[in-house]
Amino acid sequence: MEKERALEVAVRAAREVGAILRAGMRAEKHASTKSHRHDPVTIYDRRAEQWIVSAIKDAFPEHGILSEEGMNSEGSSPYRWIIDPLDGTNNFLCGYPQFSVSIALSRGDELQVACIYDPLRDELFSAIVGEGAYLDGVSLRVSPQKTLDGSLIGVGFSSRPERALRTHAAMRPLLSQARGVRMAGSACLDLAYVAAGRLDAAWYLSLSPWDVAAGILLIREAGGRVSDLCGATLIDPETGILATNGAIHAEMLGAIGIGRNK
Ligand code: 2AM
Ligand code: CA
Repeated sequence: MEKERALEVAVRAAREVGAILRAGMRAEKHASTKSHRHDPVTIYDRRAEQWIVSAIKDAFPEHGILSEEGMNSEGSSPYRWIIDPLDGTNNFLCGYPQFSVSIALSRGDELQVACIYDPLRDELFSAIVGEGAYLDGVSLRVSPQKTLDGSLIGVGFSSRPERALRTHAAMRPLLSQARGVRMAGSACLDLAYVAAGRLDAAWYLSLSPWDVAAGILLIREAGGRVSDLCGATLIDPETGILATNGAIHAEMLGAIGIGRNK
C-alpha cells in the first residue's frame, strides 16, 4: 500500500469537506444531541463523514473505518482509517472560528498517515510515518522550550461537569508556571499546534481515538512525545492524554499529577 497515495486521498477529502464546513458556518446546522445535552451533532458532522468515508471507500474498498459519527466497517485488510469529520463541533455550532477535520490511517496498531485540516485558515498539517511532519509542505518541528516555566499549554475542558472540574483542579500548578493556557475547543488543532511548535504541550482528561490519531503521528514525526497521564504508552485516550515537545514532558506529568482516569 502506497502511503503517499493514502495521504493524497485524505488531503483531497479533508479540503473538500473543509469547503463544505466553511459554507456551513453561516447556514442552518440542524443540531441534535448525542450522549448528553452538551454533546451536539449537526448535519454537517454527518455530511462531512459521508463525504470522507465515500472518498476512502472508492480508493481503498478493502480498508476498515472508525469514524466519530458511526459509519464504521471492519474491512478485509489490516488497514483502518480513523476519522473525526468535524472536530470542535460546539465551536462550529456557535460560529466560534476554531474547528478542523482529522483523518489518520493505521496498519494494526501503527499509525501510517495523518492529516489535520483547518478550513478557516486553510492550513494543512500532514505526516507519513518515518518521513516527518509538514504544514502546507514545510517541515515541522516541536518547540525548543526547555521548562514548564514560560510554556504555552493547550487544554480542553470536557462537557461532562465532573471531568471538567477534575481538569480545573489539575490546572492550578500549571497556571502558576505557564506563560499561558489556551482552551480553543478543537483537540485535533491543539495536537497539530504541539507538532508545529505553537504550543509546548496539550493535555486532555478524556478523548476518543478519532480526536487523537492524526495528532499523535504529527507530534511523533515532529520530534515530540505523547503518553497517557502516567507517562506510559497511550493505549486508550479515554484515560487521558499528554502531548508535549518532549523536553517538558516529565515536568508536565508531575504538575498535572492525575494519573490514569480509570
Ligand atoms: P468534538 O468536537 O469532535 O466532539 C473540546 O474540548 C474538544 O474535546 C473537541 O476537540 C471535542 O471533539 C473533544 N471532545 C471529546 N469528547 C468530548 C465530549 N464528550 N464532550 C465535548 N468535547 C469532547
Ligand atoms: Ca467530531
